[in-house]
Amino acid sequence: MPTLDLHHLAWSPLGHSHCHHQFQLRDASLQVGAGEFVGLIGPNGSGKTSLLRCAYRFSKPEQGEVRFDHQNVWKQPSRWCAQRIAVVLQEFPDAFGLRVDEVVAMGRTPHKGLFDGDTQHDRQLVQQALDSVGLLGFEDHAFATLSGGEKQRVILARALAQQPQLLILDEPTNHLDPRYQLELLKLVKRLQIGTLASIHDLNLAAAFCDRLYVINHGRIITSGTPHEVLTTELLREVFGVEALIDAHPLSGYPRITWITQP
Ligand SMILES: Nc1ncnc2c1ncn2[C@@H]1O[C@H](COP(=O)(O)OP(=O)(O)O)[C@@H](O)[C@H]1O
Ligand SMILES: [Mg+2]
Repeated sequence: MPTLDLHHLAWSPLGHSHCHHQFQLRDASLQVGAGEFVGLIGPNGSGKTSLLRCAYRFSKPEQGEVRFDHQNVWKQPSRWCAQRIAVVLQEFPDAFGLRVDEVVAMGRTPHKGLFDGDTQHDRQLVQQALDSVGLLGFEDHAFATLSGGEKQRVILARALAQQPQLLILDEPTNHLDPRYQLELLKLVKRLQIGTLASIHDLNLAAAFCDRLYVINHGRIITSGTPHEVLTTELLREVFGVEALIDAHPLSGYPRITWITQP
């Protein structure tokens, strides 16, 4: 079964990972097993997006290797990755005048030849994907006119239509209200494909992730189950915030209550 393996990556925005003054990813290693839901947590600017960009073959690491299914992704064509890895980013693509169904159908592109039209199968997958995200009936709406939350779900539908083996999500719940935050994560979890997601809300991360990696200043500082990772010491050290941690009364997941004394 395919797995993602980030092996001792170094990367920096300007390509000088020996320079110590600027942000850089250093010695970052991370694995996502088949069917595993892995969360990446860390403060703003800690390097989550930078690490994910390496994972989906957008940024080329200066050191280390990104392997998917035991292949070094930089030794494979970008299309090879696009057939296997789908990405849901924080910012929305410029979809200009595209309709919702056209945006979702873009997920089929890596599986088709340059001049192939949509097949019945493609159309079926687009419908299924829209159904999964609760947007059946929105096919002919202009993407640009949707709310942030609806756009986010269309982009997830596009990723589903891609039929990926691995899903990479960069703060996927940011534009969503609580109901759709939960629905999106439940839906992703039900897919049972490998998932790597940066998640801002630590209670959501605790509830949905099998394992968490914590990144700070470009370094992965610890990893493990939410129970192992989410401690008051870690939250103090990494996020600089005091918190109470107990068990969620219904589910037993670690529950974080921020201590906010004015
Ligand atoms: N292409 C880039 N050019 C310049 N700086 C960048 C670039 N990408 C990331 N950075 C810097 O790297 C640091 C980490 O950013 P990022 O990976 O976006 O963190 P996070 O997603 O955890 O908030 C930030 O200081 C950011 O400004
Ligand atoms: Mg980010």
